[in-house]
Amino acid sequence: DKIVVVMGGTSTEAEISRQTGTAILKALQSKGYNAEGMELNPTTFAEDIRKSGCAMVFNAIHGKFGEDGMIQGTLDMLGIPYTGSGVLASAVTMDKAASKRVFVAEGISTPRSQTFHAFEMKHNLVAEIEKNFSWPVVVKAASQGSSIGVYIVETHEELEKSLQEAFSYNDEVLVEEFIKGRELTVAVWGDDEAKEAFPIIEITTTSGRYDYESKYTKGASTHIIPMPVSDAKTKEIQDLAIKTFTACGCRGVARVDMMLGPDEKPYVIEVNSVPGMTELSLVPDAARAMGVEFPELCERILEMAGF
Ligand code: DAL
Ligand code: MG
Repeated sequence: DKIVVVMGGTSTEAEISRQTGTAILKALQSKGYNAEGMELNPTTFAEDIRKSGCAMVFNAIHGKFGEDGMIQGTLDMLGIPYTGSGVLASAVTMDKAASKRVFVAEGISTPRSQTFHAFEMKHNLVAEIEKNFSWPVVVKAASQGSSIGVYIVETHEELEKSLQEAFSYNDEVLVEEFIKGRELTVAVWGDDEAKEAFPIIEITTTSGRYDYESKYTKGASTHIIPMPVSDAKTKEIQDLAIKTFTACGCRGVARVDMMLGPDEKPYVIEVNSVPGMTELSLVPDAARAMGVEFPELCERILEMAGF
């Protein structure tokens, strides 16, 4: 049975997706699977997949179309199974404002925030944000990944400029209080029956910011696994990750990004339903730390999708 690894596409993260997809393809082939790669062409995707005759799609698309429920919906209509989350979980987790509403409704600890729409730009957004938040404040385009469209701002001028830029990506922007603390991430895998959290990764950077540059430049960030915190704190953080994964309805592997605040309280920042699997990515490192090598990780993701 053939597996098609879909990668690339048209999102701002297309290049990262090609790295993720290529790594997965190699891993599956090393395990003896009949796997081939496919570059995502949105306009011909349904036809390309149908013609491939594959039994399953391994989704390696980050961002638009691959992480937001679009490919998932198309494949549901074609009746072809795929790895990872379904339509709703993908759509919710890709949208930082929509997932925020889920976190709040489910009592998941998360930084205080406010959502704004492009049509509100004509009102005095800057004044409202300055009234409701204190510096620094985080401005985020709602549907981007890899820190694209994310700005940490400390002045009136920066706020104005970052709002303009964030709205150039999406017509929805999230403004969030900045949690000054330790950056961490927890991968979770599972299905409706059983879920398990990976070891926690603490992330440190040489630049002080885990942005696009430090995510994908060798040596610019360090993964500390497991994060040095008490056993009780580890369990609290892992439980929060599983609760978040469950609340969003995720399946397969997803990665829950958090900050550990100065009050020692974990705050959920966002969920990534197609986490990066590049050479420098987090999930493969956490898997290795629990004794799961990359090819086995890919194999388990296939199995969780019913392959
Ligand atoms: N959005 C990137 C690929 C990640 O979360 O790993
Ligand atoms: Mg993300």
